Amino acid sequence: MKELKKIAVMTSGGDAPGMNAAVRGVVRAALNKGWEVFGIRNAYRGLVEGRESILPLDWLDVSWNFREGGTFLGSARFPEIAGDALRSKELKQRALLNLKALNITGLVVIGGDGSLTGAHELFMFLQNSRWASPELRDMELSIVAIPGSIDNDIPFTDMSIGVDTTLNTIIECIDKLRDTATSHGRVSIVEVMGRLRGYLAVMSGLATGADRIFIREERISQEELNCMLQVLKESFAHGQKAGIIIRSEGAGFSTGFLKEIIAMLLEPKREVRETVLGHLQRGGNPTAFERIMATRMGIKAVQLLEEGLPEPHMIGLTHNRLESVPLSMVLEKLATPEFKNQLSPNTRNALHLCRQLEEPPQGNTTPAIRVAVLTDGCNVSGMNIAVRAIARLAINQGLEAVGIKGGFSGLLRGPENVLRLDWSMLELKGIVRRAGTLLGVSSNGFPDAAEHAALLRQQVNKLGIKGLMVIGDSTAYQYADSVAGVLQIPVVGIPAALCCNLLGTDLVVGIDSALNDFLKGIDRAVDAANVQRKIYIIQITGDYCDCLVKLAALAGGSEVVIIDQGAGRKAFQMLVREKIQGLKRIIAAGKNSATVIFFARQPDQADDSLKEIKRGIIDSGITLDTSVITLETTLGGIVPTAFDRILAQRLAEKALAVLQKKMEQHEHAFHMVGIKGREIVATAYQDIKQNGLRECPDALVSELDQCIEYMSMPGAGCAGLGGTIAWLDTGNAEQWQGRWTCRQCGHQQDVLFNPNNLCVIYCAHEACPNYGYIRISRRL
Ligand code: F6P
Repeated sequence: MKELKKIAVMTSGGDAPGMNAAVRGVVRAALNKGWEVFGIRNAYRGLVEGRESILPLDWLDVSWNFREGGTFLGSARFPEIAGDALRSKELKQRALLNLKALNITGLVVIGGDGSLTGAHELFMFLQNSRWASPELRDMELSIVAIPGSIDNDIPFTDMSIGVDTTLNTIIECIDKLRDTATSHGRVSIVEVMGRLRGYLAVMSGLATGADRIFIREERISQEELNCMLQVLKESFAHGQKAGIIIRSEGAGFSTGFLKEIIAMLLEPKREVRETVLGHLQRGGNPTAFERIMATRMGIKAVQLLEEGLPEPHMIGLTHNRLESVPLSMVLEKLATPEFKNQLSPNTRNALHLCRQLEEPPQGNTTPAIRVAVLTDGCNVSGMNIAVRAIARLAINQGLEAVGIKGGFSGLLRGPENVLRLDWSMLELKGIVRRAGTLLGVSSNGFPDAAEHAALLRQQVNKLGIKGLMVIGDSTAYQYADSVAGVLQIPVVGIPAALCCNLLGTDLVVGIDSALNDFLKGIDRAVDAANVQRKIYIIQITGDYCDCLVKLAALAGGSEVVIIDQGAGRKAFQMLVREKIQGLKRIIAAGKNSATVIFFARQPDQADDSLKEIKRGIIDSGITLDTSVITLETTLGGIVPTAFDRILAQRLAEKALAVLQKKMEQHEHAFHMVGIKGREIVATAYQDIKQNGLRECPDALVSELDQCIEYMSMPGAGCAGLGGTIAWLDTGNAEQWQGRWTCRQCGHQQDVLFNPNNLCVIYCAHEACPNYGYIRISRRL
């Protein structure tokens, strides 16, 4: 028999949304290499228990659950295995022998700090025991760890699995709490998770406009409490209707204590309510970012195991690129006092920004300098919170902030479109979570620059605007660039669009919200396709880049992506033929439904291209029916995600700083702010515009293509059930019978089981450790 590489995967510690997607990444990437994969139930506890808890996983076992929170493998906290005590050593020995009994030579551990420590200890125990233990002497084991913890408390990765989803769950809860607190004029204290790290508290506070945030890493002093009371008092005095205080669960003193302090000392008195979000925030369907990152990490883990590792490694995400680092380094860093007690620069900056934004303006001096902000191009989620941030920061720096309604066309029409942005007005409109842009965009296209530039200049003069910020896409940028010289004031742009290909930035406000909105539609289509046993062609309309379409496909688990690049009918026909062949293989492997993502760069050709796809499906001999649905986000209406809210405010802060500098220097060329790697940068449009539109990064596109293929196309070596089964008709719906053939040794045996339950089959052939399992009801 062919020697198979066997690997196992477990999810350990606190569950985190996205763990299932990581397991799917591992399972499918491994099956595609012709390997066999085992899932360990309940983490280290299951590993120690052995056989019953180590089950083979096949292609269809991970078809659905990657869209769900929690972990279908189960998790456990099992501190007994850690340390040097005799019992811990015995447990490690048992765990290793259980892996060895199944010839498992690769282990993927998905979990937080405790789970990573467990993985490292297991490996070290094996290394140190070889000489004394004949059973372990020749054992091979490579270990890869994937960071999974909602707290974002693991070094060497920008994000761990679960963080993005949890943040979005928290902000959804806080948005709701703000509604009720606003109705009653109350202060709402929200306790969020994060035993050792305040990341969730800080980022959710920034994304929801919280008045004060308390975290473990900052000692809570009397001064801090006074400051909170002062902020609440003044905010209410400025017209704010609700107070939101966020406390991280690890912070100095209790939520109850904070509640008492506010109830007792805040003047005038306000009712105070507390909400502990608890485990609510750990569940829920993973977001697009989560599913994509987790899938990529799962695939990368298999690649690392294939390459071979002299010591355990952890996969980390740095500026959206996956890298691996020795687990020993991760654990060393985890143990340092700096890591334990200090905020990361990113979290520190976010906390600082949050404090600036929530500090009500001091005094009543009339501001001398007026700056304006407008939104233009397409209507993008996250624009409103950027406007709020610009206005609040400007007001707090003694500037006057005005919003221009209707983009550049509004500016042309003059004073009727000018809105004074005062500090609390921005609060009342629930602006942090409002979809699209309250200021609006140029509704009938941009005014002709050559014809109207002089009038625009006059309006700017008349309105006394000394600096302008433009939040928008490439069309808004181009327009701003064409008029900046004439306006003779500094103009600074903030990227907000539905394509990732804007110049001068790696990240763009609005994409994450659009992607998650697509994902909802794709999830529904996948469900419908499954119920109706059909192929759903999901047509995405709008002006998007390839990356966005492919990210949506990967997050939604669509089998095929077809993008009509407008390169001619023949080229498209060939592409369709190739993609449909793939679809045929998937259906032959047992799937009875599928989704195809279709995007046409030239919308007027979309109908013809759709017909081509449908014809291709019929001609290929696939007998499933097809339905077409259309998804589009250009109408707006999408509540911005945590990521977009945070990005919008960070860019707004930088844009205002750049604008102020350019005002001092009287420099009038159009500049834009963006993210490059870890930095927020400002670039002169002149310097980069020659390059035209930025292409989607090649490396990302090809990685996405590979991930989609790995996740949707069962390779020739797919393992199946640990064996094959032939059914015998018993006529009894409760008791089925089949003849199972072991994949490993070819032994055949009869099995009887209830189709509603999981049935585990152990190979009865002497000395064969193989087993399989059948779970019928889920597949029907
Ligand atoms: O480690 C993640 C985490 O969610 C912490 O934020 C929280 O303190 C802890 O887990 C809760 O753990 P459990 O579910 O075991 O009570």
